[in-house]
Amino acid sequence: VSAVRFDPAGPLTGTITPPADKSISHRAAMLAAMGTEPASISNYLDAEDTNSTLAAMRSIGAIVEQNGSDVMVEGVGLSGPRGVAIDVGNAGTLMRLLPGWLAGVEGQEFSFDGDSSIRKRPVDRIAQPLRRMGASIQATDDRLPPFSVMGVALQGIEYEMPVASAQVKSCVLLAGLVAEGETTVIESVPSRDHTERMFMAGGVRVVRDGLKVSVARADDLQVDAIQVPGDPSSAAFAIAAAALVPGSTVKIAGSGTNWTRTGFHRIAQRMGVRIEGELEPIPDVEGFSEHEPIGDLVVTASELNGTTVTAQEVPLAIDELPLVALLGCFAEGETVVQGAEELRVKESDRIETVVRGLRGLGAQIEGTDDGFVVQGTGGIRGGTISSHGDHRLAMLGAIAGIASKEGVTVDGMEAAAVSYPTFGADFAALV
Ligand code: S3P
Repeated sequence: VSAVRFDPAGPLTGTITPPADKSISHRAAMLAAMGTEPASISNYLDAEDTNSTLAAMRSIGAIVEQNGSDVMVEGVGLSGPRGVAIDVGNAGTLMRLLPGWLAGVEGQEFSFDGDSSIRKRPVDRIAQPLRRMGASIQATDDRLPPFSVMGVALQGIEYEMPVASAQVKSCVLLAGLVAEGETTVIESVPSRDHTERMFMAGGVRVVRDGLKVSVARADDLQVDAIQVPGDPSSAAFAIAAAALVPGSTVKIAGSGTNWTRTGFHRIAQRMGVRIEGELEPIPDVEGFSEHEPIGDLVVTASELNGTTVTAQEVPLAIDELPLVALLGCFAEGETVVQGAEELRVKESDRIETVVRGLRGLGAQIEGTDDGFVVQGTGGIRGGTISSHGDHRLAMLGAIAGIASKEGVTVDGMEAAAVSYPTFGADFAALV
């Protein structure tokens, strides 16, 4: 476990190009593997999580050539995967999405397992709708990995989601491509829609109506070229750093601006962070796009105010909520996050690890059942924080250090390689 020290920095200046989007990279690899024609993915995220997905696609029979961020995939077709044991590593998205497809590959048996963190992450949320479609799934204690999937003929369903989760939505939609008839998913609040956009770009008929999305069985997928934008969740670390270190102005180049991923940007703006550049507007009912918009943003440090983040906003900022807590430490007044109980089942229990971690650095923060409450105290003292093997916790600690009075040591900084292998070098160039 590597301990890395992050000292307080003067104004941050320059340009940062965030690494490729993790969510879109996972989906691009899976959809390319579902096709039969060679597909090229440019700007694929070359990181631990997304490389687990490439390895999984190879293991089920796809031919994958990776040259850094350039990936070529020759898929196996929708019914072509061969039954194998799949090691998902730390990748929750791989573990939750792929079973949707494989559950409908008749006659093949697949098993899924991963690292010690993945073994704590529930899969009953996908097993339940997939079983309603006819799937045969056996999980540990009926809810955890390791688990196995026996491929059978699936039936389309209409599924009203009990948890707001893009992973569950995507899993059911993937199953819909190999199921008889039509499959409909109904969300209670919007979540990231990369799967829907990529399906549409790949020639799959997707019907979207507000919070309802339907697909039908597909014969084929035409994914020939996918360009992955920069990851807005990784860019969020630079946004927070630039916002918190007085005098900073940082340009973020080539970040995805899909409105279902920029909830953090809107929360930060509400708190007073100055973000210039074009974010994709929240569409009206008719306005769904099949493209992934990309843009440049410029972030300038400023005075911040506390805010309340409500359940409705949570899915669109889910991975960035630890950064909202950090902004709250520097803001005037109180910052509250509600309706975010999903944080408890991320790579770590992020309510517990964020509250304990930031408190150890001098923050006034209390955990609640479904979020946290932060009192702004004008900044962070510093100290030591553990990543608990969670990439976003590691990077939270690093940004806290850069913006702190005395510096922060992050125990377990290597976890950042799950989503952001160049984190250290990128931030060294800004300070
Ligand atoms: C993801 C969805 C989110 C997010 C995760 C990636 C995805 O999880 O936390 O990092 O790619 O669909 P949930 O949809 O389960 O909340």
